[in-house]
Amino acid sequence: MLLLAEMEKDIFDKVQESIGFIRSVIPSSPRFGLVLGTGLGSYADTFEEKCSISYGDIPNFPVSTVSSHSGRLIFGKKCGIPVIMMSGRFHYYEGYTARELTLPVRVIKGLGADHLILTNAAGSVNPHYREGDLAIISDHINLMPDHPLRGLNDLRLGPRFPDMMKAYDRQSNLLFKELAAKMNLSLRESVYLALQGPSLETPAEYRMAHILGADLVGMSTVPEVIVARHEGIKVTAFSIVSNVCFPGSILTETTLEEVIEVVGRSASGLSLLLDKYFETLAS
Ligand code: HPA
Repeated sequence: MLLLAEMEKDIFDKVQESIGFIRSVIPSSPRFGLVLGTGLGSYADTFEEKCSISYGDIPNFPVSTVSSHSGRLIFGKKCGIPVIMMSGRFHYYEGYTARELTLPVRVIKGLGADHLILTNAAGSVNPHYREGDLAIISDHINLMPDHPLRGLNDLRLGPRFPDMMKAYDRQSNLLFKELAAKMNLSLRESVYLALQGPSLETPAEYRMAHILGADLVGMSTVPEVIVARHEGIKVTAFSIVSNVCFPGSILTETTLEEVIEVVGRSASGLSLLLDKYFETLAS
């Protein structure tokens, strides 16, 4: 038990150390954290006053092992609003524990952000969805085999039993839906089911996800959402449908190249929506 207690203290201290280093590089405190998933990294290029740090230079940060993820923490401003972006995230399938891979979320909160926006590519198991559709997550089902809050709880980080009734900030979701409607952009309100990967799902597993009530399946986001809620910060999450996985009769093989290609083609809608959101907040 002593070991576990020490491990807990470790997280708090590690986060403080990471924050100390990042603060010495970035010019001011971010208001938002933004996690850029597969194929979405280039949104960071549209920010002003950018400054970026390689994950490898940040004390205690995990290092991305996925070739499609660049691995940089980027500070920038959009309509004057300071945002800290993760270009490249960490996944359970890379070998990190859920605790380790969510350390950056705690760092983002510690730097001053009170709202985390996450993006990802996902497979759809809702028969009405099409490749390239844009979705806003309203709820999740966590079927990952590890939990980021497993072990002793450090009350300096958050409560032992964080509530998940309103994991995804309802007011923000409403605002995003209103903005999307004004822009004539279809935004599907979705339940995201998280699985460990890295293999994609079998036809029976996609069918299971559909039966369980999910619209989307993916290998990320949920551990970060749980930790952001543990830290008490607001969460909004978006998916771009990179492959349609239900019903089984239309299921085809999925490759990373295809996922990146589809997301790349559809990323402009999400970029425009995020731009509009920041513009609305700034006005
Ligand atoms: N399954 C899991 N993760 C994914 C998928 C999928 O079909 N597509 C993109 N990420």
